[in-house]
Amino acid sequence: MLKLRGAVALFGLSVFTHGAMADAELDDRMIKLASNAGCFTCHSVESGKPGPNGLAPIGPAWQDVGARYHGQPKAKDALLRAVMDGTSLYASHWKNKISGIAMPPNAVAIKEADAKKLVAWILNLKK
Ligand code: HEC
Repeated sequence: MLKLRGAVALFGLSVFTHGAMADAELDDRMIKLASNAGCFTCHSVESGKPGPNGLAPIGPAWQDVGARYHGQPKAKDALLRAVMDGTSLYASHWKNKISGIAMPPNAVAIKEADAKKLVAWILNLKK
């Protein structure tokens, strides 16, 4: 019986560490992807970071993006389009919270399939 409990505990532990490792690995991959695509010129992952010269950040922190849209059924597609095609100068979603006005299209810098993965990851970020 004792032996069995040990095996169960060990199994539980391995599932847990495997999950944590998979998360860290995903974070790493997504950060590399974003960094290669130049996203961090305007965005930070972490909420509350200032932008250049102490101004508001140019684009919203991705933790804030996750907090705002997580669980909204249309968010994945809408954000993917925003990333690939850019956003409207006349309908800023983050007015008064950032110093940028609109996001330029990123289709030159990132493949749509990669942007899709990045958006899914951003939507799951928590503060
Ligand atoms: C030149 C600056 C710049 C770059 C580079 C940039 N962004 Fe943005 N991004 C912005 C700005 C500004 C906004 C806010 C747009 C708004 O208020 O509607 C934004 C908004 C977003 C949003 C939220 C859109 C919404 O509708 O709320 C996501 C997601 C996003 N960016 C992801 C990315 C990803 C992924 C990359 C890299 C492939 C990237 N951005 C590169 C400036 C940038």
